[in-house]
Amino acid sequence: MYEIKKAAVIGAGTMGLGIAGQLANAGVEVTLLDIPAEGENRNAIAERALERLLDENQPGLLHEDFLSRIKIGNIEDDMAMLADVDWIAEAIVERLDIKKALYKKIDAVRKRGSIVSSNTSTIPISLLVEDMPESFQAEFAITHFFNPVRFMRLLEIVRGQATRLDVIETLEEFCDTRLGKGIVVCNDTPGFLGNRVGVFAIQTALHEAFRMGLKPEEADAIFGRPMGIPKTGVFGLYDLIGIDLMSDVAKSLVSILPDSDAFHKVSAEIPAMVRMIDEGYIGNKVDKGGFYQPADAANGVSRKTLDFDSFEYREHDASRPQVAIDAELAGDFTLLLEQDDKYGDYAWRILSNTLCYAAELVPVVNESLVAVDDAMKLGYNWIQGPHEMIDAIGVDKFIARLEKEGREVPAFVRTAAGKSFYRVSDSKLQFLLADGSYRDLTHAEGVIRFSEKRRTLTAIEANAAASYFDIGNNVGLIEFHSKANALGPQSMQLIEAAVAHAAENMTALIIHNDAQHFSCGADLQSILGFVASKDLDGLDAFLDHYQQTLASMRYAPIPVVAAPSGLSMGGGFEVLLHTDKVVYHANSVTGLVESLVGVVPGGGGVKEMLYRWSERHGDVTKGAWSAFMNIGYGKTARSPLEAEPLAMFRTGVDSYIMNRDRLLATATHAALAMADSYTVERRGTLAMPGREVWAEMIEWLEKTHAKGYLTPHDVTTGTQIAMIVSGGDVDAGTVLTENDLFALERKAFRTLGATQETRDRIQFMLEHGTPLRN
Ligand code: NAI
Repeated sequence: MYEIKKAAVIGAGTMGLGIAGQLANAGVEVTLLDIPAEGENRNAIAERALERLLDENQPGLLHEDFLSRIKIGNIEDDMAMLADVDWIAEAIVERLDIKKALYKKIDAVRKRGSIVSSNTSTIPISLLVEDMPESFQAEFAITHFFNPVRFMRLLEIVRGQATRLDVIETLEEFCDTRLGKGIVVCNDTPGFLGNRVGVFAIQTALHEAFRMGLKPEEADAIFGRPMGIPKTGVFGLYDLIGIDLMSDVAKSLVSILPDSDAFHKVSAEIPAMVRMIDEGYIGNKVDKGGFYQPADAANGVSRKTLDFDSFEYREHDASRPQVAIDAELAGDFTLLLEQDDKYGDYAWRILSNTLCYAAELVPVVNESLVAVDDAMKLGYNWIQGPHEMIDAIGVDKFIARLEKEGREVPAFVRTAAGKSFYRVSDSKLQFLLADGSYRDLTHAEGVIRFSEKRRTLTAIEANAAASYFDIGNNVGLIEFHSKANALGPQSMQLIEAAVAHAAENMTALIIHNDAQHFSCGADLQSILGFVASKDLDGLDAFLDHYQQTLASMRYAPIPVVAAPSGLSMGGGFEVLLHTDKVVYHANSVTGLVESLVGVVPGGGGVKEMLYRWSERHGDVTKGAWSAFMNIGYGKTARSPLEAEPLAMFRTGVDSYIMNRDRLLATATHAALAMADSYTVERRGTLAMPGREVWAEMIEWLEKTHAKGYLTPHDVTTGTQIAMIVSGGDVDAGTVLTENDLFALERKAFRTLGATQETRDRIQFMLEHGTPLRN
């Protein structure tokens, strides 16, 4: 049996560096080699690459200290470093001759019983290893990661003719539990599954847009969130990846797919894009831009769009077709298909072609439709896979529309006629096989996706924002499902009802959802409603309910465990602050960022941070200063490891894991283990620092403003945060209860909510998604 303890990555480019970073994140010692550089420092290429792992915008590491787990070298001087390594991942240039030469060098030094894999996107495994001895072939596989490696969930693993089964099993287990990937085992076919379907979909969206004469804004308004796919759309995605690079990807698929493949119909070069590449309009990586020129809201620069006739940038048209707004709001892409205009037509052209293309891959390219669906969900962040989307349309309706247009219906879609690709039978989710029978959908032990499990359950309580379920073993689960999981009155009503029910009927309560983000915060739109109409009493009542609901959750007689992934910001993080334990996904982002919109964390966030910091320092005044500074600056942690020094992660209480598909099982297990000896711990009183410390904080704010680091409204907002953490205009030592602190949060919120500046900040954030610095 194989065991991976030490690893090496060869090729310190985009992918190799990402893989090395993720191995370091998993606690694995890793060797990273590239070609020797000219000049004195022969390891300069790998060395320079390492700096990119700390990139501010997209760090590859959970914590900068993990950099020390990566040793670097070059393939001429340091091949001996591979001798005791258990897994060697090759991620060098996509050239067969260069890869083959490298494998010879690797085989000369590697130990028997080590695994070698390639990150190739296009070269068949049979060609990669054709010159290699059987012993090498038996221990060789393709491990195809997606960029950026830390964040993309999909890993496609390909087994060669001669690859041992236990090599595949070892990689599957290791990359799932340690690297946190969702594994799709693919056959050795061109583009595997993710890129095969994903690039087809993008190319189709692009070609149809040009054919129909849609503006980039119009196309992206449809091919994006309304369709259940990322908001970058098609033109935005081209800009993000690079128009030159995407063009190469399409060309390489053209060269490896059989002539009969439908991809060839959407692969022709588009003249406007050829010109763009020639003139250097290749996307976000260049200052010129691509289809779009990004906005710089802070400096009043708005987004621009390239005009294909004049080849100059024009004003961006931000208006969206009503159907796109409706479909996104309802989370129902089928609304697009019912629209009898160019937008409905565009959506149908893309989806009908893409869904048919995906269904044609079963069973020849992959036996399982689940593999195809997973590839799109994990590799391209689609909310639903192609077969789930056909189910949502209705298989028979889909067939009827294709037939009406005189189009061919893929055999596998015909098999599903009168049925669906997925069904629930005996409380189990099943999927259709090519022979018309169904098979239970199963995952590795410990992997539970709530988006799948919820289909087999009936909610005990539900409203438009959230639902509450019994997930078995006397465990209740609260799921948020509003837009961006913003938390409004309905979310709180649901929590309140769920806590009341669970307290009587359950052993433990879990808060979890399978959306991209746990929660982006309290619903700003609701808050703006109160603020704009000057309904400060309404605002107060909303906050009071928010606070008391979270307090009731905290003081429920059973353990409450949260299992978040993605963003847990502001009001979303305040939910986490009122649980007994949090099992985080490793890439979780947390922060109390309310000050950026000119308010304070008013759902117990300031109060809870004050308690936590005071405990850490063993001193309330020091605690008040720490809470004041961190909340004032709206500090954000991009991993649980970064959250720990900010008192947002409790060592010994909270934990984190690498694979988000394992969150639910891990959290449930932890909650049940806590249930036996569970006792409710109440927050005590705090002897507050009082008016002198408040004055010191205000003085600090004014000095910092004078130096130009804070805006006037930062000072106003900071003054209110300072009021809460100090206790305000009271004597030092005045004793306050948790409820007193809640009241101070509401008072501060009310004061700020009455200002025009806060109104402007909220409005700006809702319109531009970025803070206003007023
Ligand atoms: P890259 O061009 O960023 O990096 C390649 C690195 O390999 C460079 O640092 C280069 O100096 C080094 N290298 C070249 N020959 C070498 C040799 N003989 N020994 C050691 N190092 C050598 O390329 P990227 O994008 O990281 O791609 C690497 C592999 O991953 C390719 O096979 C590519 O098809 C595949 N891939 C790329 C994806 C992407 O999004 N960039 C996604 C999935 C797979």
